[in-house]
Amino acid sequence: MKILKTAKEFFDWRSKTTSFVGFVPTMGALHQGHLSLVNKSKEMCKNSVVSIFLNPAQFSPNEDLKSYPKTLENDIDLLKDLDVDVLFLPDEEEMYVNVKDVDIPPSSLFERLEGQSRPHFFYGVTKIVSKLFNVVDPTHVFFGEKDAQQLIIIKEMIAQMNYEIALVSCPTIRDKNGLALSSRNHYLSINEQLEASCFSRVLLKIKKAIDEGELSSKILKKQFKENLSKNKKIKLDYISIANKKTLNEIDVVAGNVLISAAVYFNDVRLIDNFTYQSST
Ligand code: PAF
Repeated sequence: MKILKTAKEFFDWRSKTTSFVGFVPTMGALHQGHLSLVNKSKEMCKNSVVSIFLNPAQFSPNEDLKSYPKTLENDIDLLKDLDVDVLFLPDEEEMYVNVKDVDIPPSSLFERLEGQSRPHFFYGVTKIVSKLFNVVDPTHVFFGEKDAQQLIIIKEMIAQMNYEIALVSCPTIRDKNGLALSSRNHYLSINEQLEASCFSRVLLKIKKAIDEGELSSKILKKQFKENLSKNKKIKLDYISIANKKTLNEIDVVAGNVLISAAVYFNDVRLIDNFTYQSST
């Protein structure tokens, strides 16, 4: 596996590379969720590139940029084991000074769901992903469904900016108790992860309630809040029942629906979601 730190080094490699280039952008602290994206890339593309760049622009001053888990040596070992072709490992100066700036078309999707609590977030994400696309020039890019809104926004950005990149969405990977894997789970002990997994189970209860005929978002959200409040360590950030395309909140479950939530477990922010395709 080559480890390339500058865009120039990367361009040299890329100019000699033909056939498909699959790309998995990450912020490091890799887990099985990331590795499933890499495996998918390896399955579909002759070459696979992973980037690790902890992007300051997607953290607000009161968020966890400083303490964000860093496990670079282990990440490198994991990527070598998977026989990744290139790890792109730029620093801040490379991405924000040397790589040309980009203008991202504004989108109302940035303000929804996660954007309510993290208004800066999708501005930071789209800028860095676009810059990475401009360096890596991938034919395919792989994103996890755990970050459902990010996936929808990147899909829109690819279309608006005319990137010729196939976006491949990959299912959320969960631990044996159902907790969605996330780099932020590193902040939790094994016992805390077990306890936090009740978040995913409570969220899935919404699916059961819809299957049983409850279509009112107001009632579904109320039941969710009541169930969640049984665990005193979990604090709700938001629960959303939205149209999966526009991300507008809906009153009645109909069509293709994204049900998503963010909570704090002992101050660690966790997100999860599922999609519901209703026949009406
Ligand atoms: O999902 C992530 O890890 C980040 O948001 C991404 C896509 C690597 C951009 O920094």
